[in-house]
Amino acid sequence: MCRTGEAAWGCLLFLTTLGVFAVPRSEHQSGAVGMNVLFIVVDDLRTSLGCYGDTIVKSPNIDQLASRSVVFKNAYVQQSVCAPSRVSFLTGRRPTTTKLFDFFSYWRVHAGNFTTIPQYFKENGYVTMSVGKVFHPGISSNHSDDFPLSWSIPPYHPSSEKYENKKTCKGKDGALHENLVCPVDVLEVPEGTLPDIQSTAEAIKLLQVMKQHNSPFFLAIGYHKPHIPLRYPKEYLKLYPLENITLAPDPDVPIDLPPVAYSPWVDIRKREDVRALNVSFPYGPIPQDFQLLIRQSYFAAVSYVDAQVGQLLSALDDLHLTNNTIVVFISDHGWSLGEHGEWAKYSNFDVATHVPMMIYVPGMTADVHPDSRMFSFIDSLSYAADQIPEGKSRKIVVELLSLFATLSELVGLQVPPRCPETSFDVQLCTEASSLAAYINITDDEEKGLVESVAYSVYPRPSDTPQQNSDLPFLKDIRIMGHSMRTVDYRYTLWVGFDPNTFNSNLSDIHAGELYLVEVDPNQDHNVYNSTFYETLSKKFLKFLRK
Ligand SMILES: *[C@@H]1O[C@H](CO)[C@@H](O)[C@H](O)[C@H]1NC(C)=O
Ligand SMILES: *[C@@H]1O[C@H](CO)[C@@H](O)[C@H](O)[C@H]1NC(C)=O
Ligand SMILES: *[C@@H]1O[C@H](CO)[C@@H](O)[C@H](O)[C@H]1NC(C)=O
Ligand SMILES: *[C@@H]1O[C@H](CO)[C@@H](O)[C@H](O)[C@H]1NC(C)=O
Ligand SMILES: *[C@@H]1O[C@H](CO)[C@@H](O)[C@H](O)[C@H]1NC(C)=O
Ligand SMILES: *[C@@H]1O[C@H](CO)[C@@H](O)[C@H](O)[C@H]1NC(C)=O
Ligand SMILES: *[C@@H]1O[C@H](CO)[C@@H](O)[C@H](O)[C@H]1NC(C)=O
Ligand SMILES: *[C@@H]1O[C@H](CO)[C@@H](O)[C@H](O)[C@H]1NC(C)=O
Repeated sequence: MCRTGEAAWGCLLFLTTLGVFAVPRSEHQSGAVGMNVLFIVVDDLRTSLGCYGDTIVKSPNIDQLASRSVVFKNAYVQQSVCAPSRVSFLTGRRPTTTKLFDFFSYWRVHAGNFTTIPQYFKENGYVTMSVGKVFHPGISSNHSDDFPLSWSIPPYHPSSEKYENKKTCKGKDGALHENLVCPVDVLEVPEGTLPDIQSTAEAIKLLQVMKQHNSPFFLAIGYHKPHIPLRYPKEYLKLYPLENITLAPDPDVPIDLPPVAYSPWVDIRKREDVRALNVSFPYGPIPQDFQLLIRQSYFAAVSYVDAQVGQLLSALDDLHLTNNTIVVFISDHGWSLGEHGEWAKYSNFDVATHVPMMIYVPGMTADVHPDSRMFSFIDSLSYAADQIPEGKSRKIVVELLSLFATLSELVGLQVPPRCPETSFDVQLCTEASSLAAYINITDDEEKGLVESVAYSVYPRPSDTPQQNSDLPFLKDIRIMGHSMRTVDYRYTLWVGFDPNTFNSNLSDIHAGELYLVEVDPNQDHNVYNSTFYETLSKKFLKFLRK
């Protein structure tokens, strides 16, 4: 009944009936509310959402969640690739502490036995559950999504996930291919379903079981799209007529971009449809008509995920759980849709590091009325964008790293202490402060708060783009890009790195980037060498040294 695999809700029902989780909510929470947490992580979702000001993308359900939440408009990840980013925010430590820059080590063995967010909740009386891609699967989570330490029941993975990289995309020739652009007829694909549809259904079943039960829960659900391949139900294409799709505002590789900063998007080149284009390595470009197809399908995949989120939240509401469940919505990192001539994550630019992050806290970010709905499913094919009001938003620059402390504080658990300078032997601590104080303040109050900084890193094997530049193995990393984002600037320094000692050598500078984001939001004009900004660069360098 409780093997790792597919039957998570059956296992949960079995264990709750046995009384395994017989810890009532009230005994475990100190003072505060003891709310449940629904933690939604989307894979490779940049801020292309209505609630982040995108005028093309149709995301009514996420926008509705935003309207009831506090939306962090300037949230950044710590490394723009799945496993390092997820391990970082789930442990509340930077990649420099988890020592995970690629996909191939497990922090408990290679860095330290760090407590994760779900583990902390589990140890404090929560039933913790994982559906879909929450941890990155594989070595980086001990081939078990860190079960049993992080989760009360074996994590659920949708059975149809195994077809993601199979030939299931119908080409113009009528045959099936392993394409990048892959709208499908769901009735025709193997098993007649897609992973995210299965994950939504499973999460709803878990909510139904938990509704009957007294323990607080932490349910994490990780959606697979819009990660490549862009495989989604083809009806979402209707939302994006090709004539309405534009190219990226800056589709060319900037001339003053240091080559080390560039990601040559090797993974999409392996897909059959992209391979057929004979795009040159490393800079391309991809033919414009195909650029439009990629953008169109990415947006359609976002709308498909939006519908999943809508169904999940509407089920939460049907179960009357919206008055005692916090909802967190984030993505593990962004994706460049042609900006700087790139088609990938794998960089320190905002398109790769800037992510949606919103938190719904009943009674705090929205008033709860017993008789009215908080979340209704909205069909993206028939709604008016102006029906959805804007929610509260914060401009402060924040890191996903803050989620550990923030969620602990919001549910009334003791906030894990700040980590000491080196913390490999400290099991429970976090490297960022709680954002709870930012959730219920006015815009004026926010203005008075200190300016903050988000840090991220990206590794490279060499100064010029190679086949392994996107995702070097640890042993091949020679250069580390340390990046800082403030409200006004993005500053990145590419310096020598030793994979044996994990040391970055800030005296061995390979390249630098400085962007003035107010006038150059897309980060196309590198002013690092301008003598005018020398003082600023020196100030940032000092900051990084610390
Ligand atoms: C890591 O911590 C967990 C939880 O405290 C403990 O059960 C486990 O034995 C520890 N593992 C190691 C290798 O120290
Ligand atoms: C990793 O998983 C294996 C079982 O596959 C288990 O024996 C081992 O203790 C786990 N490692 C840690 C550090 O928890
Ligand atoms: C496409 O663009 C046209 C012209 O701006 C607009 O009227 C139409 O609503 C757009 N279609 C969709 C599905 O957004
Ligand atoms: C900045 O100056 C360095 C050293 O003179 C040079 O190697 C580099 O190409 C310059 N970068 C840009 C973007 O001009
Ligand atoms: C790509 O190269 C192959 C083999 O050289 C050729 O048959 C094909 O026509 C080329 N395709 C394009 C789009 O240039
Ligand atoms: C939430 O609503 C349910 C049913 O509407 C009610 O029984 C319960 O007491 C409420 N919980 C809180 C924390 O307000
Ligand atoms: C949030 O702020 C409002 C306005 O200042 C206040 O009335 C309310 O009590 C606060 N709510 C919580 C839960 O702190
Ligand atoms: C750091 O780089 C500088 C400049 O290249 C070099 O002289 C120094 O030996 C390096 N330090 C270490 C510890 O490798």
